[in-house]
Amino acid sequence: MEERIRTVLASFEGKRNDLIPMLQAVQDELGHLSDTAMKEIASYVGMPESKVYGVATFYSQFYFEPRGEHEIKVCLGTACHVTGGLQIVDAMERELGVKCGGTTCDQKFSLERVNCVGACAIAPVVMVDDDVYGRLEAKTVKEVLEKHAP
Ligand code: FES
Repeated sequence: MEERIRTVLASFEGKRNDLIPMLQAVQDELGHLSDTAMKEIASYVGMPESKVYGVATFYSQFYFEPRGEHEIKVCLGTACHVTGGLQIVDAMERELGVKCGGTTCDQKFSLERVNCVGACAIAPVVMVDDDVYGRLEAKTVKEVLEKHAP
């Protein structure tokens, strides 16, 4: 794994200004930022690991645990919130057996809440990877999941 990380980092000069792009590039390669990756990045930019964690944890785009095969984003922007987004979250959490921010034991799905995904006209909205599902009801959540993990 260190080799893959070093290969990604080699495309950067090791400047602290490049920290965010480095974190993104390593996460793109590995799917998440492992402890090893964080150590390698800290060493490459010459910063304490705690500071690199401090920066990375500030942004919700970074993950420190492996993610599921499919990424589920339940929208809780205003339009989705007022049209039943919270019931969709509850149904997803119940169906998957994980809370938002978590990944199922079989590594099939990761679940998270997001703000507006730009499809308010069909609220409430859920995205599974690049597929958008609108006007969802709690009772149709299972069908959506089955399309992605039959
Ligand atoms: S608020 Fe959910 S798509 Fe806009």
